Amino acid sequence: MKVLPRREFYGEFAVPGDKSITHRAIMFNGIAEGEALVTGALLGEDCLSTIACMRALGAEAEIEGGAVRVRGAKLHAADCYCGNSGTTMRLLMGLIAGQRIGATLTGDPSLSSRPMERVAKPLRLLGADIETDGGRAPVVIRPSVLSGRELDTAAPSAQVKSALILAALGADGETFVHEAVKTRDHTERMLAAMGADLKVYGNSVRVAKSRLKSADVEVPGDISSAAYFMALGALLGETLCKNVGVNPTRTGILRVFDEMGVQYALENERTVCGEPVADIRVKKSPLRAVQISGGIMPTLIDELPVIAVLCAYADGESVISGAEELKVKESDRIRTTAEMLTAFGGDIIPRADGFMIRGKKSLAGGYADSYGDHRIAMSAAVALAASSAGGEIGNPSCVDISFPGFFSLIEK
Ligand code: S3P
Repeated sequence: MKVLPRREFYGEFAVPGDKSITHRAIMFNGIAEGEALVTGALLGEDCLSTIACMRALGAEAEIEGGAVRVRGAKLHAADCYCGNSGTTMRLLMGLIAGQRIGATLTGDPSLSSRPMERVAKPLRLLGADIETDGGRAPVVIRPSVLSGRELDTAAPSAQVKSALILAALGADGETFVHEAVKTRDHTERMLAAMGADLKVYGNSVRVAKSRLKSADVEVPGDISSAAYFMALGALLGETLCKNVGVNPTRTGILRVFDEMGVQYALENERTVCGEPVADIRVKKSPLRAVQISGGIMPTLIDELPVIAVLCAYADGESVISGAEELKVKESDRIRTTAEMLTAFGGDIIPRADGFMIRGKKSLAGGYADSYGDHRIAMSAAVALAASSAGGEIGNPSCVDISFPGFFSLIEK
């Protein structure tokens, strides 16, 4: 994909539906009593993997235009191919264990290299019979009876937390899930709206055995997808991303904008299906370097590659630390972000838990591969549009994982 440099970038955008919320709306309605319509759903490859798996397990899920109609069912054993989607595999591990059925979960080479014991281990403590292949997929689950107990998540991961909550819906007694750092809470919000016996106390969740009732979901735009257009506004002009989910467990990028001096405004703030939603306007701003570390990480983890692009154009030396989770995403994003920015003439040093980036007024541009990672491909497009000569991205089609139509929208 060739990306030409732009001196200016202005526009109003509606970005695709939130990936995390779409996965959850389809899975949770798939085990609920009744039928629901999920509108504004993301129909990217990851969520199509969730739809295919839920169908294989016995739920009904039909795509109707941009919506998905889901009818819940008593699930049965199945082989589930999760493609590139960590959310599909990890959440299903918990959901399937809680439904007392068996299943085999497989994925593509990227997903098959990612850690699954972080979910399997605590599920075994609930009584699940679950086997990984040396810590990775394929994951084999055999039917078993679960009992509730107290659990701590070993990684700052909403996928791990959500898997444990889903298993707890089918466990006898009460389960408490504690996390050291709060991660995205879409699972808790949606399950509570579907009648689950669940209560949140700070960074802990109490869950008891529950039968869910179906609920229609209006999925807001994904802030992780809006982030590319927000970054283009900050670098080159002004952008307005409409109807974006601004759940506080997802908006760490706005706190980074505050630190970097990016001018932005939330307009038309409202609540839709229990999730805060707004239009986000971002204006071109002189960017300052930033230090990012600690508890903010889970609230901006998927945005770090594009935040690194902004740091590469900021005045001064930025340091991102405590971001070791980047190593176990769709690619090792510490390595791939650093290679991409270095290829474009940026000054970035990868570290064990993040990066050090010395900003420059301009990057030359050049060629970088996406490494099959959608967020690297889209971050590269932003970096190249703002560069002096532009360049090319290898393996660009992976953007379809979370943002089908990304390149035609950015071009338009
Ligand atoms: C997600 C949680 C995050 C995020 C991923 C989606 C979710 O992963 O990176 O894109 O929907 O729960 P972890 O929870 O493993 O950090």
